[in-house]
Amino acid sequence: MRALLIVSVFSLLISSAVSQDRGPGQRAFEARCAICHGGDGHGTDRAPSIYDKTAARDNASIATVVKNGLPGGMPAIQVGDDELTQLIAYLRTLQMVPAAGGRPVVRETLTLTDGKILNGVRVAVGLTDHQIRTDDGKLHLLRKVDDKYREVTSTVDWPTFHGDMSGNRYTTMTQITKDNVKSLGAKWVYTVRNAQGLQDTPQVVGGVMYVTNVNFCVALDAGSGRQLWQWMRPSTQGVMGAGSNRGVAVAGDRVFIVTDNAHIVALNRYTGTQVWDTEMADWHQNYGATGAPLAVGNLVIGGITGGEAGSRGFLAAFDQTTGKEVWRFWTVPKAGEPGAETWGGKDIEHGGGPTWITGTYDAQTETLFWPTGNPAKEYNGDDRKGDDLYTDSLLALDAKTGKLKWYYQFTPHDTYDWDATEIPVLVDAMFQGHMRKLVLHADRNGFFYVLDRTNGKVLLAKQFLKELTWASGIGPDGRPILKAGQEPTAAGTRVCPSQDGATNFYSPSFIPATGLFYFQTFEKCSVYQKADDTWTAGKNYLGGVQRVAPGGKEEHILRAVDISTGASKWELTESPGANGWGGTLSTVTGLVFFGEEGGAFAAADASTGKVLWSFGTNQGWKASPMAYEFDGKEYLAVIASGNVMAFGLGD
Ligand code: HEC
Repeated sequence: MRALLIVSVFSLLISSAVSQDRGPGQRAFEARCAICHGGDGHGTDRAPSIYDKTAARDNASIATVVKNGLPGGMPAIQVGDDELTQLIAYLRTLQMVPAAGGRPVVRETLTLTDGKILNGVRVAVGLTDHQIRTDDGKLHLLRKVDDKYREVTSTVDWPTFHGDMSGNRYTTMTQITKDNVKSLGAKWVYTVRNAQGLQDTPQVVGGVMYVTNVNFCVALDAGSGRQLWQWMRPSTQGVMGAGSNRGVAVAGDRVFIVTDNAHIVALNRYTGTQVWDTEMADWHQNYGATGAPLAVGNLVIGGITGGEAGSRGFLAAFDQTTGKEVWRFWTVPKAGEPGAETWGGKDIEHGGGPTWITGTYDAQTETLFWPTGNPAKEYNGDDRKGDDLYTDSLLALDAKTGKLKWYYQFTPHDTYDWDATEIPVLVDAMFQGHMRKLVLHADRNGFFYVLDRTNGKVLLAKQFLKELTWASGIGPDGRPILKAGQEPTAAGTRVCPSQDGATNFYSPSFIPATGLFYFQTFEKCSVYQKADDTWTAGKNYLGGVQRVAPGGKEEHILRAVDISTGASKWELTESPGANGWGGTLSTVTGLVFFGEEGGAFAAADASTGKVLWSFGTNQGWKASPMAYEFDGKEYLAVIASGNVMAFGLGD
């Protein structure tokens, strides 16, 4: 009794010393959260600061974090509804007074070397770099020069997922060459918290690099890797097939990102503040989203996932200003619509055909080239007899209206999960004696294709794998010539390529001067077994199972294919294994950069395949490289697992 009295008198003293109006929200925060986040929300060794992060979250999102926790060590905390409301109200007051007892907002006036004065709020500061947001809301990236500052920015951008609209992943920057590539070194690293296996290709616009993960976007100074802002949402419990995110689209003062639960969101490019949020589809119907959107004109185009879960695929375009939907193209028709005759059976209801990799765009004809994924159920075609249009296809769509101009289907009636979501590369080149508008595509099914992009006609289709069992070639009508006995059965059928595909979504690249198409390939086979399945919300719709075929020799080969013949000019067999998902980037100086199976970021001579440089990241690849120039210096960047790494030449 006496002890209790002493304690309560003591706590009364403390509370009146700290704050006059210690309300229920503050009491709850101090009791439940302060142990990790600190009494002022500024963080401790146990948890990051939160006073500066609640602005990016609405109340529902904070409530979800508290109730469900986060993977990086935030526990799920059971709090009653009233207490939670008070707690959130208190968190909001912390956000309003960041100066209270902690690091203050620093207003500063900086003088540039040219005499210009910048007034604003400090964003970050390091040994040699400094970032400030001026009162007009703009970010300025600075470098110290004695007691003054020099403003720096990117001098060549990488403004879209593929770098440019053609999907070439080819840079015309000339500083890094075959002669000096051996002195390429790491310039900076940024680690995305609690992240592994990121699939994003970063974008660089106006000096800022945008990096994404699931429901997460961070803006970095592209010359130093310093964080400028971050936007984050908790992941959606129970969402299907959305465990990655591949990047943003940038246009005007906005960046656009899709969320795991199939929303598309616009953020202010300078602050990370959300501008609009549009639901593309109801995620409870097995939709998700992972692909980098594509900004075209005043539209932003977003795709969805769900090939494994039997969503009904579509591609949609939204107004960049308002987020309103402008058009939608369904990749699986409804009963009675054109194409429905290619779906014999009930699976037309849950046919798949997702659109999860970013397409390419021809500005001259205002045409989008967008590839589609596999039909569902995946390994069992019994309830979808026919070609299953428009799955595993390349769509040529009018970018303004979403109207179909033509399509080409790589794998009709697929039962192997061979999404055609490999990048369609647009090239104007001499082909069979004529200058032609081409689209180049190495498909997961093991064939390399050259199509006429004005009409979708196949000009060339050539097997690139050593062992390919399902078809003997592509006929003059553009259809695969099927081999017998290759359908999945209950007992299991061995088919090459494997379910991972002969190639996959990682980036290919093309050099006009060599006429070679550079892409990563897997020599690997699967045993495909079919089974019954019923579509259920919240469950995969596979209709079977696959496993890597036993006894096979698995290889990871970087191939350089001559686009006029489809023949390999050279092949580079990588470290043993076939599990690396790193793409290629090629340069006008004759280099091909790629993520090597053994974890190296490497450069090969584009004419011969000889390796000229490598850097061991010791991570399994999931992402493809990109290039930009910052403050007059050429950089290459790639994400190795959770680390964004930027490389450049010495000073
Ligand atoms: C045991 C330590 C611990 C406790 C207690 C705790 N947190 Fe956390 N919290 C963390 C960690 C660690 C993270 C970072 C997790 C991550 O990024 O995956 C975090 C993250 C958060 C975030 C997300 C911040 C962002 O990046 O947007 C919010 C919001 C949050 N906590 C609120 C709370 C609230 C409110 C309470 C009290 C009800 C609380 N936390 C209690 C450890 C804790």
